[in-house]
Amino acid sequence: MLLLNGPNLGILGRREPEIYGTDTLADIEAAVADELSDRGWKVVSVQHDSEGDLVGAVHRHSDSTVGAIVNPGALMIAGWSLRDALASYPPPWIEVHLSNVWAREQFRHESVIAPLASGVVVGLGAFGYRLAARALLHLAPDPLRPQVP
Ligand code: DQA
Repeated sequence: MLLLNGPNLGILGRREPEIYGTDTLADIEAAVADELSDRGWKVVSVQHDSEGDLVGAVHRHSDSTVGAIVNPGALMIAGWSLRDALASYPPPWIEVHLSNVWAREQFRHESVIAPLASGVVVGLGAFGYRLAARALLHLAPDPLRPQVP
């Protein structure tokens, strides 16, 4: 499963902890891996500060992952290239925001990514990633179990 984090999320833990909490990205990776371990899924975790690198990661991992958790960071606002890359990523994938973006500044109230997502988890801190992982387990086909046509 692809865990994709955008700009400024590599410094979680020391980035405005009163807004984003004290969990580091490594803590979040471990939490997501923990949720997925029962099904034997592995986490491919990618974090980049630049949009082009994130687009490349979506392309590179789209055939080899069964779902994704995406926190686009501020690219939610105008990350059109990331949005277009995700349009070609096979569902399911979930958008996550640690903070409740609708309780914050007006410029965070719209996401160009969200209309394409299978679902969105907002405002629940690092626990939101765990919830997104559970949602993916629910939504994504188990590659080890053949699907009934
Ligand atoms: C964020 C919310 C965004 O508005 C912000 O730019 C971030 C983090 C969140 O997880 O709450 O970088 O995506």
